Amino acid sequence: MLMKPFSLNLNFKTGDLLPHDRTNIRRLSDMKGMFYDSKSEQQILEKENPIIYSFSEKILPEENGHLQLATTRILPGKIGNEYYMTKGHYHKRPDTSEVYLGLEGEGWLLIQTEKGEFESIQIRPGTIAYIPPYWGHRMVNTGSVPFVFFAVYPGDAGHNYGDIERTGFVKILVEREGKPVLIDNPRWKKE
Ligand SMILES: [Fe+2]
Repeated sequence: MLMKPFSLNLNFKTGDLLPHDRTNIRRLSDMKGMFYDSKSEQQILEKENPIIYSFSEKILPEENGHLQLATTRILPGKIGNEYYMTKGHYHKRPDTSEVYLGLEGEGWLLIQTEKGEFESIQIRPGTIAYIPPYWGHRMVNTGSVPFVFFAVYPGDAGHNYGDIERTGFVKILVEREGKPVLIDNPRWKKE
């Protein structure tokens, strides 16, 4: 069936994509065990269940030839000394790429292969990051305001969280003396 062309409006300040079909909210309880300081995680969850990030999507066919469009907004904050971040994922179809465009706030893109090669890219408003096929990706808000970015990826890329939920990323971003520092993730295991 031939799809009709359409347009959307993206608010660069807030990341709101209008009209969007779906907004997903990730709270701390949705990311259990993904921050390395499990004690801080538990202490926070006993009192509240903060929103870590949300993303708005336009629902498009999950098919080769289409593209998916989404905006993500990561709130500022830390669990222990580790900055708020997205869950991160590989693509279910691993030979697919993705483009991120920074809109508001600042942060870092952490990218890794399943074998443990690791790279990081600083993202500011206007930064375009290209994530080639086979690289898992996670965004981290290292600033004091919401970190907003736009993403485009192939329609049939899908998400694969499995390995990341178990072992996390090779490195984690923590605050040391007021500055973001990448340190080795003590839970990362190269299998
Ligand atoms: Fe992706």
